[in-house]
Amino acid sequence: MMHEKIARNASSQALMTRVQDLIGNDLREVERVFLDEIASRHPYVREVLSHLTSYRGKRLRPMLVLLSASACGGIDPAHVVLAAVVEMIHTATLVHDDVLDEATTRRHVATVNSRWSNETSVLLGDYLFTHAFHLTSSLGDAAACRLIGRATNIVCGGEMAQVADRGNLSLSEEQYLEIIEAKTAELCAVSCLLGAQHAGAPRSTCDALDGFGRSLGIAFQIADDLLDVIGNERNTGKSLGTDLQKQKLTLPIIHLLTQVSPADSETIRELLAHPDRQTREALLPWLDSRGSLNYARTRAEELTVTARGHLACLPDSPARQLLEDMADFVTIRTA
Ligand code: IPE
Ligand code: IPE
Ligand code: MG
Ligand code: MG
Repeated sequence: MMHEKIARNASSQALMTRVQDLIGNDLREVERVFLDEIASRHPYVREVLSHLTSYRGKRLRPMLVLLSASACGGIDPAHVVLAAVVEMIHTATLVHDDVLDEATTRRHVATVNSRWSNETSVLLGDYLFTHAFHLTSSLGDAAACRLIGRATNIVCGGEMAQVADRGNLSLSEEQYLEIIEAKTAELCAVSCLLGAQHAGAPRSTCDALDGFGRSLGIAFQIADDLLDVIGNERNTGKSLGTDLQKQKLTLPIIHLLTQVSPADSETIRELLAHPDRQTREALLPWLDSRGSLNYARTRAEELTVTARGHLACLPDSPARQLLEDMADFVTIRTA
């Protein structure tokens, strides 16, 4: 188990080194564009922004834009701007999501809501969303504006659908997949699509890249939902267990409820309906013995196979190879 974990960490690190070798300069440029766009003279805004910019996530979505561009013909300055835009939208959704989840830790530091307040988080999220749209408009590309606006609408709709389904213990796998496709996969899909489209790829290739990002994004969220149940906060650097605390049903739980007797289902529903600090521990033996963790893992892996299948239309290149490996990375990640 320990060996497996060390091997997984080593392969994730090796992948990130290869990504840096290929697109490291562009990713550094993305950081500059991101920071220039959100800079403010207002002292309070500067204080909150300095907190936000002193920590970094994995930058998965900018990587998807740039690798898709590279695999479809080449990266140009507009791709760097689009990569900054998708990361800004992603960051806005995280700042808002931490309010919804009452999360205290994100990216190994205090969340904006816990260090400042919900009010500050709402406004900071708005600040980031509006800067993302402002930055997109600088490209003078109406199609990109429309795609980004639409994807962001869908992401917000997904978060709202999830709030609406809180406490719905009858949520089906299909409904769950619909929610995560909206709240997470849509932004991954549009990242890949924008990369391809701005590289001048034909319609069929753009559709394939959209499909790749979509399947990868769904797999990514299933893996994230597994981490919420079995991950550890030291590795992920974020508050875990919030899905259970907020009564958001995720794939392992949905599967478990289909695998137990009516009497056991009653016991589990009782645990889910009154979550506390012990709920996660109490559910783990059930999830393990009924194969629900494995079920979710397998579903995520199947989606990464589907994702890779979409890349078949691309000529072989280092960027295509990295996109394929990114698909595997999303299900083995521990952070
Ligand atoms: C977290 O996304 C939110 C989900 C969609 C699961 P990431 O895991 O990409 O977060 P960062 O950007 O690396 O912190
Ligand atoms: C939220 O999903 C994903 C977004 C689109 C914001 P989660 O609530 O699972 O994300 P984490 O686990 O807090 O990063
Ligand atoms: Mg959350
Ligand atoms: Mg999560």
